[in-house]
Amino acid sequence: MVTIKSQREIKLMEAVCKCVAKFYELLEKEIKEGMSTFELDKKAEQIMRNLGCTPAQVGYDPGIRGVPPYMHSTCISVNDEVIHGIPVKNKILKNGDIVSIDTVLLKDGFNGDAARTFVVGGKTSKDAQRLIDVTKQAFFEGIKFAKPGFRIGDVSHRIGEFVKENGYSVVREFEGHGIGREMHEEPEIPNYGKAGRGIRLEPGMTLAIEPMVIQGKPNILELDDGWTIVTEDGSLAAHYENTILITENEPKILTI
Ligand code: MF3
Ligand code: CO
Repeated sequence: MVTIKSQREIKLMEAVCKCVAKFYELLEKEIKEGMSTFELDKKAEQIMRNLGCTPAQVGYDPGIRGVPPYMHSTCISVNDEVIHGIPVKNKILKNGDIVSIDTVLLKDGFNGDAARTFVVGGKTSKDAQRLIDVTKQAFFEGIKFAKPGFRIGDVSHRIGEFVKENGYSVVREFEGHGIGREMHEEPEIPNYGKAGRGIRLEPGMTLAIEPMVIQGKPNILELDDGWTIVTEDGSLAAHYENTILITENEPKILTI
C-alpha cells in the first residue's frame, strides 16, 4: 500500500529530511585523503547524533537468507563500488576517488533518505566528474514528472532515457522507493521503464528517487560480504538520491 502522509506526518518528514540535508553539508567537510571509510562512518554517526537523529540503517535486516543485518550508519561506495559499500578500516581514501555515501536518518518515527557522490580532495578526472554530474542531473530530469497527472513510470522512464542519452547505464537490480515510517515503502521506483505505467502520483506521497549510474556496462556483482555492489567491468559508478514530497504542483525536495 502506498501511504499518503497527513499534514502532521509531512511536518515530521520535513524535519528529519532537513537533518539529512544538514548532515551532508557537515559530512562533506570531513572527507579527507588518508582516512578509512570506517573512520568516515564514525564521523557520520557523530554528526547524525549531534543533529538529534539516529542512524536508521544500523540493524537493518533485508530479510534475505544468509545476508547479515547492516551494521553501519552509512553505506560508503568508492569508485567502482556502486552502492551498499560497508565501511571498513582497510579502505583508505585517496585524492580523486569518487565516494558515494548513502544514509537514512530517523527522527520522531520518520525516515529521511539521501545519497551523494563526493570527490576526495575536490578534483577528479573529467570523465568521473561528468558521471557525477549526469547522475545528479538524472534525478532533476526525473522529478520533472513527479507531480499529479503523471505516473511512477514517467519518472522512471525519464531517468533511464537521460542516462542513456549521456552514454551511461542505470543499475536495474536496485531502485527508489516510498518512504515514511518505514525506510522502504511502496511503490518501487526503478530508474528505467515505460512512460505511462505504474501508479498515479498524488499529493502527500513521500518518495526516495535515486539514480544509480554506471560509466560502462550495466552489469553488477555482489561481493562476498553480502552487501557491497560493484560494477562487473570495473568502471566507475555514482549515486544521487533525495526524499521528495509530491504536492499539487512541483515536488518539494526535502533533503536539500
Ligand atoms: N539507503 C539505502 C536506500 O537508498 C538503503 C541502504 S540498505 C541498508 O534505500 F542496509 F544500508 F540500510
Ligand atoms: Co533509498
